Amino acid sequence: MVKQFDVVVIGAGPGGYIAAIRAAQLGMSVACIDEWKNDSGGPAPGGTCTNVGCIPSKALLQSSEYFDHAHHHFADHGIVLADVPTIDVAKMLGRKNGVVKQNNDGILFLFKKNKVSFFHGRGSFVGTADGGYEIKVAGAADEVIVGKQVVVATGSTARALPGAAFDEKQILSNDGALSIGAVPKKLGVIGAGVIGLEMGSVWRRLGADVTILEALPAFLGAVDQQIAKEAHKAFTKQGLKMSFGVKIDSVKADKKGVTVQYADDQGAAQTLVVDKLIVSIGRLPNTTGLNAEGVGLKLDERGFVAVDDDCRTSLPNVWAVGDVVRGPMLAHKAEEEGVAVAERIAGQHGHVNFNTIPWVIYTSPEIAWVGQTEQQLKAAGRDYKAGTFPFMANGRARALGDTTGMVKFLADAKTDEILGVHIVGPMASELIAEAVVAMEFRASSEDIARICHAHPSLSEATKEAALAVDKRTLNF
Ligand code: FAD
Ligand code: NAI
Repeated sequence: MVKQFDVVVIGAGPGGYIAAIRAAQLGMSVACIDEWKNDSGGPAPGGTCTNVGCIPSKALLQSSEYFDHAHHHFADHGIVLADVPTIDVAKMLGRKNGVVKQNNDGILFLFKKNKVSFFHGRGSFVGTADGGYEIKVAGAADEVIVGKQVVVATGSTARALPGAAFDEKQILSNDGALSIGAVPKKLGVIGAGVIGLEMGSVWRRLGADVTILEALPAFLGAVDQQIAKEAHKAFTKQGLKMSFGVKIDSVKADKKGVTVQYADDQGAAQTLVVDKLIVSIGRLPNTTGLNAEGVGLKLDERGFVAVDDDCRTSLPNVWAVGDVVRGPMLAHKAEEEGVAVAERIAGQHGHVNFNTIPWVIYTSPEIAWVGQTEQQLKAAGRDYKAGTFPFMANGRARALGDTTGMVKFLADAKTDEILGVHIVGPMASELIAEAVVAMEFRASSEDIARICHAHPSLSEATKEAALAVDKRTLNF
């Protein structure tokens, strides 16, 4: 007998597995299909995020940051190491793989706990069935299941440079970048975006000579430019080499290494020879093998599954969430959409507020923001006030020995409503949560300025930046 479900979710990344759990919580029978395999061929739910994205990158960022501290900062604290610290890359990668496995196992446990039926294999549309859609699962044993409602959450994959396919040995996507077996002497990175900066930082801290080539003329163009400038200063001081406004002409890998021919911002021909090259120039929606065209599931002109504001696709009772649809490619955005879709299927009013989705770049210093940048407000002709507070004037940051950066508030000139908060500095990833809550409740900068913040804490810099909007900082 064909197994029937109220909801079939294709993909168990943060969008899919969260949608499945929320739908099950709401009393529906749910199946979730995912094809990711671990090294022994077993299931590895969690998608890009868990296997080759958020989680392993943060594990390596942590390991490399400890290494960097041991090298450059322990001495400031009077900690004397008997020897120069060295890195056991195999052990570091083993730890990272362990962290990934804990997360894979955690999701399988959550499926059991919530009675979500998990199918390991590739899901594809067969056609409509009585009361829903037939979905084929191509796994160890093929089978067809039926879902009244289907959620497509098939995520994204790395975009390659034309003529330079990923071999994951010398020309690396995020996948290979997270598994380099020994610190390369020279590492090239194409694209100074989120992956380029995070992965470039990991291998630079471990001793690689890292050069990043970026097509756009400005550094982190989508980030508030005052914050981006501060970050650029810090990364350059750390030894990251970055060139902007370049045009890549060719990439060739051979025994000698990887040779990149490019034109610099003056149009002059340049050559970069490196041991390994990470290509991080954005990601493509993953609809391969879904049989989208077979059932008439509409894709947009860029290949994303076309959806409306509520994640409804062109087919009735078929939804799509996460990286495979428009909007930022972020795990928490995928999760929010997954929850909202499950709630809509259950007849509730799921909601995602795109204005309050935070961004974090986990470099050192970290960069985090929510809402609008100063350049966006200027372009929109909005009347605003700005307030900044440097971590240099924050007691906790001094005690930590990490005083780079600032918190910046942007608020409406008349109503004082917070329009954007931008942070570059220590623990920006955690600090931004307060700003997200404030903006979700449509708070004013004065609200934050009047709230008691623990002392000494980095969050006092947030309060002080809010005070700065009214030109009344207390500690600067
Ligand atoms: P995915 O996580 O890509 O999951 C899709 C799943 O569907 C995969 O398991 C795939 O195997 C499966 N699948 C696809 N097609 C089929 C099919 N036909 N049948 C069965 N299964 C299928 N975001 C953050 O918010 N914070 C971070 O710190 C962060 N760091 C990142 C670091 C890196 C190196 C990368 C590459 C990305 C990072 N991201 C981060 C982005 C984040 O990983 C994605 O936004 C997120 O994973 C998207 O979730 P998703 O569920 O839409 O898709
Ligand atoms: P990205 O969009 O962040 O950056 C890509 C960069 O490559 C851009 O600056 C772009 O101008 C540049 N570029 C594009 N084509 C180029 C070319 N031919 N030559 C030189 N430069 C070129 O994409 P990235 O870094 O690949 O990451 C993909 C996505 O994954 C991110 O946008 C983000 O959504 C997600 N991610 C999120 C993280 C986080 O939240 N901390 C961490 C890593 C990834």
